[in-house]
Amino acid sequence: EIHHQQISFDSVRRESYSGSLFDYGDQLFPLAASADSRDGPLPLEKQKRLGILNGLGLVIGVQIGSGIFSSPSQVDAEAGSPGASLLVWLIAGLLAWTGAASYAELGTAIPLNGGTVAYLHHIFGPLPAFLFAWTAITVLKPGSMAIIAIVFAEYIGRLIFSHSAPDIATESISTAENLYSPLWFNKIIAVAAILVVTIINAISTKLSTRTGDVFLFIKILSLVAITVIGLIVLIFRKGADNFTEGWFAGSSESLGNYAIALYAGLWAFDGWDNLNYVAAEMKNPSKDLPLVIHVAMPIVIFCYLAANLAYYVVLPSSELTKSSTIALAFGESVFGRFGAIVFTVCVALSCFGALNATTFTSARLVYVSGKDGFLPARFGKVNRRTDTPINALLLQAAVTIVFVLAGEFKSLLTFYGVAGYLFYFLTVLGVIVLRVREPQLERPYKTFILTPVMFCCVALFLISRGIFSATLEASFVAIFVLAGVPVYFWRAGGGLHEMPLVGRLFRPKMKLGDNTTGYIGGNS
Ligand code: ARG
Repeated sequence: EIHHQQISFDSVRRESYSGSLFDYGDQLFPLAASADSRDGPLPLEKQKRLGILNGLGLVIGVQIGSGIFSSPSQVDAEAGSPGASLLVWLIAGLLAWTGAASYAELGTAIPLNGGTVAYLHHIFGPLPAFLFAWTAITVLKPGSMAIIAIVFAEYIGRLIFSHSAPDIATESISTAENLYSPLWFNKIIAVAAILVVTIINAISTKLSTRTGDVFLFIKILSLVAITVIGLIVLIFRKGADNFTEGWFAGSSESLGNYAIALYAGLWAFDGWDNLNYVAAEMKNPSKDLPLVIHVAMPIVIFCYLAANLAYYVVLPSSELTKSSTIALAFGESVFGRFGAIVFTVCVALSCFGALNATTFTSARLVYVSGKDGFLPARFGKVNRRTDTPINALLLQAAVTIVFVLAGEFKSLLTFYGVAGYLFYFLTVLGVIVLRVREPQLERPYKTFILTPVMFCCVALFLISRGIFSATLEASFVAIFVLAGVPVYFWRAGGGLHEMPLVGRLFRPKMKLGDNTTGYIGGNS
């Protein structure tokens, strides 16, 4: 008799589970909240609003952002040949897919809002969950916003300063950072973008949440345009001769280079876990969550491979390797100045939309931390006039600006990748741990066991190679994560169970069924 009785997460844990560190609910998402949301948690709503299309929009909208318009140069530079680069893109996409499939198993077995925080808490306990939340606030969110703002600035900068562009045909510009615009200019523009987005979010919530779909449309249109143009160039004119010496001529032989290239590719695919954050709000998560993942991932992978092929068809490799404003170079090479302007506007809008949505959702993370007591209470306040978490927004903008001023695109990308994959690894490892530890847990969606195993192996490779090839970035990650440990015991230490946050962690107050739901609108 091999039949085990299945035990659903709901029936067993509903009484004992505390919910996630951050219940992505109560006042998190004012869209779902009523106007008097400033005193105490809201009456909890259990709306099941997200269908398959919303899920697809969310996942694809978060994934397509700045990366496909900026990372190709770094992937190419590190991988060394068109064939190797395309392979890196494919592997990055498949890795994201295996990660997302593993997350889908967790999301359907542990149907809570809060994603990674909820899973880490359930599988490994409060400290890892806290450290993830801490790292998300100090590194992941500000880091990702800084990257997007920098890409935005580089596009604007290159458009404005294109007259001073170095002649790309000459070998003279072998400098690592070959920016067209002065660095100070880019930093000013990036900081300005962060401030504008912060102000928009401080003024009104509606202003910042209604634009997601428009931006998604622009992004997909840009990728389709790039692909179609690439095809036309391929057919009607001889494109750049990137393939004359063979697809793999010049491929890098160092594993470290491939790790860095993978980080760059993975950035473009990042965001595949976002539907898990709102799993509790899906109409039918056990069916729809895996479905959305298995539809969205191949679409995004296909779009990215097609766009990359188009880049290789149109652009000479000297240009490809060097510019993180690849879509602009692409437009310029086909249509001249006009094309440059059109593509810059599209990419700028795409970045701005991504920045805006990230600002919106991550400020809520800071805000809940303020409310939960692990940040000073003032960050957990909603402004009475605007009904927006202004203090949280300002804190977040300040941290992001520090990242912009201190870092540059490439190292930020690796920094973000190491930190991000550390926690992705831990969470997906949790899938395997859970299979062993709680075999009877009901899993409406069960991924093939090799999926999480493969993900863990590649993630481990990435993290370890990251430590060797990008020691500085990796050490910063370690410092940031470890800094969370004393914070945990400090905020938890004294009045251990009095802290709302810690109280919730150690002595569950909230029942699973009370877990609130709020809809993360737009593309973070
Ligand atoms: N993939 C996105 C891009 O290319 C970045 C997503 C950032 N991550 C997130 N969870 N919002 O810009």
